Amino acid sequence: MQHILSAQQFKSQAEINDIMTMATLFKNNTDYSSINTRLANKIVATVFFEPSTRTRLSFETAVLRLGGKVISCENAQTNTSAAKGETIEDTARVLAGYADLMIIRHPEKNSVARAASVSDIPVINAGDGIGEHPTQGLLDIFTIIERFGSIDNLTLTFVGDLKNGRTLHSTIQLAALYDSVTINLVSPASLTLPAELITKLTAQGCIINQLQTWDSCLAATDVLYMTRIQKERFTDIRQYNQVKNHYILTNELANKMKYSSIIMHPLPRVNEIEPEVDTNHRAYYFEQGKNGVYLRMALLTMLLNPLESINITLLDKQKVSVLS
Ligand code: NCD
Repeated sequence: MQHILSAQQFKSQAEINDIMTMATLFKNNTDYSSINTRLANKIVATVFFEPSTRTRLSFETAVLRLGGKVISCENAQTNTSAAKGETIEDTARVLAGYADLMIIRHPEKNSVARAASVSDIPVINAGDGIGEHPTQGLLDIFTIIERFGSIDNLTLTFVGDLKNGRTLHSTIQLAALYDSVTINLVSPASLTLPAELITKLTAQGCIINQLQTWDSCLAATDVLYMTRIQKERFTDIRQYNQVKNHYILTNELANKMKYSSIIMHPLPRVNEIEPEVDTNHRAYYFEQGKNGVYLRMALLTMLLNPLESINITLLDKQKVSVLS
């Protein structure tokens, strides 16, 4: 594993199990003094051409917890030489001479893969436009497994902007690696999941239901994954205004779901989950956000300290089985 660019690079449950095991260990270990040299002498560059709260700061937290150092550029669209017309490839070539790993968020689909193609250090895609957000996908899977033990036989309902929501593009592909997964796709007709993803999920054996309303599927749902309508992707604000209030989760609706179900959201939310839902026992989105740190600690260890990560995973698998 050199770069993390797309959920497509993970071909089986086994490939992501080690990541999940290590993330579980980091979550269960609150004694950071025992791990704060794992990235000693490593420098990680975080370069974000689009806004971010969780992804950038949880990555940076993860680096610091592991004893590494960060060089960071937020507002990279205006604060790097991109503003002068430098290509993403040239920026990546230069950063590869400074850091040991780079994490990039960029508004153009496939742009992070272009950066990786010229980089001799690992590159992590922290969101490429409407493409993918694979580390969010992995932390979503970690969160579901933490709550349910597996994804096998679960019913996942994705709601909102399925066309432009890069997080769920990754999450859905990873969920499809599990057995007997039912996926409900609830969106306005103009914001359906890209056809190539539907074809792929169907080929992988998922049961797919495409819906425009959610009333009929809430009762059977184990995981309700809400998303923000991605306003910044609309060229015509009138089209955004037509869909912006389509799905608003209230406690009345949430309580129609199974008692054991959970509500997820990659965040930020705008108005799609009413604040009253935050105290519903199903609300899991802030725990999900916190899990980003542990999952990213695991990924950074695997990419920057692979030999140690093999040892940790082998040794600590036994501890995880004792803990669970
Ligand atoms: C998302 C993103 O940037 O794609 N946020 C995140 O990384 N957790 C979701 C969004 O902006 O709606």
